[in-house]
Amino acid sequence: MSAHPKLVFSGMQPTNVLHLGNYLGALKNWVKLQDEMACLYCVVDMHAMTQDTGYRHPRELEAATREVTAAYIASGVDPKKSILFNQSQVREHAELAWIFNCVGRLGWLDRMTQFKEKTGKHKERASVGLYTYPLLMAADILVYKATHVPVGEDQRQHLELSRDVAQKFNKDYEVADFFPLPEPVIIGAGTRVMSLRDGTKKMSKSDESDYSRINLTDDADTIAQKIRKARTDPNPLPESDKGFEGRAEADNLVNIYAALSDRPREAVIAQFAGCQFSQFKSELADLAVARLTPIAAEMRRLLADPAEIDRILASGADKARAIATPVMAEVKRLVGFVT
Ligand code: TYM
Repeated sequence: MSAHPKLVFSGMQPTNVLHLGNYLGALKNWVKLQDEMACLYCVVDMHAMTQDTGYRHPRELEAATREVTAAYIASGVDPKKSILFNQSQVREHAELAWIFNCVGRLGWLDRMTQFKEKTGKHKERASVGLYTYPLLMAADILVYKATHVPVGEDQRQHLELSRDVAQKFNKDYEVADFFPLPEPVIIGAGTRVMSLRDGTKKMSKSDESDYSRINLTDDADTIAQKIRKARTDPNPLPESDKGFEGRAEADNLVNIYAALSDRPREAVIAQFAGCQFSQFKSELADLAVARLTPIAAEMRRLLADPAEIDRILASGADKARAIATPVMAEVKRLVGFVT
């Protein structure tokens, strides 16, 4: 049994506007966890720099950082309960990431599927930061000795690497249990929300088609239209789980309904068994509009006062630093840095 007190850490990249996958896979669970454990929620602006969009447009990165902060708060992350901050304000993330660059192995990074997916055939042109990205992610988590990391399914492999880094550091420096082995928290029906245009592809910020995703800032008409136009097949909804085989789009829409309504998938299948898609989509659109439009409205209200957002981030960064500084001091002592 680990002696580490339970502590949650998670983050999102301010690379673009957030979408339904970010909300159902992560944010919604973050909000719940606030009442169970101490939580740190970070806007990972240093990670955003690994992609050309974050690197080339400084004003856009600032704006996206504030927008993601507003999305966290509008979705229910409460800066009074949780520590809410942006990564670059706490320098210990970068300091520990360097040490982890030396602990991590090339072979580990070579196995990362997200890097392969993001770079495709053009690996040579990718930034070095994109390659070592999972080690910065490990530093984000471990600089607080966080024990639980709520994320979507696509982050599982990165989290396994964080555990490998923690384990190797503990072993190399003979400090059993110095770093906890962080546990992924991947729960609910929305852990892998798929594209509305292709049920075999993940819903993603980088998809060229805006019709592939529902953005948290979409208005009611846009949400309804995107759901109406979502790809489906001609058959009615099946009566059991088995009937979804080979029907990725139907599967995805049912999962979205279950996650948005906070009900088990089985209950949703039972409710809509035999139903035509036109009717199901209209109910799904009503539900999505009811859940998401208040978030967009609250985001607009918050973004009207960027100075207040900056104050929240600065105050969160102070609290985060208070946890990270002593951990980093101990790491420096362990590795032999004279301070
Ligand atoms: P990012 O910014 O790509 O995504 C943020 C969160 O949203 C989840 N997510 C999804 N969940 C379900 N379905 C989808 N289609 C979908 N798309 C995205 C992601 O799983 C994630 O939880 N590397 C991270 C950011 C990060 C981080 C960390 C996370 C940096 N440091 C430390 C946890 C702990 C990322 O790029 O997430």
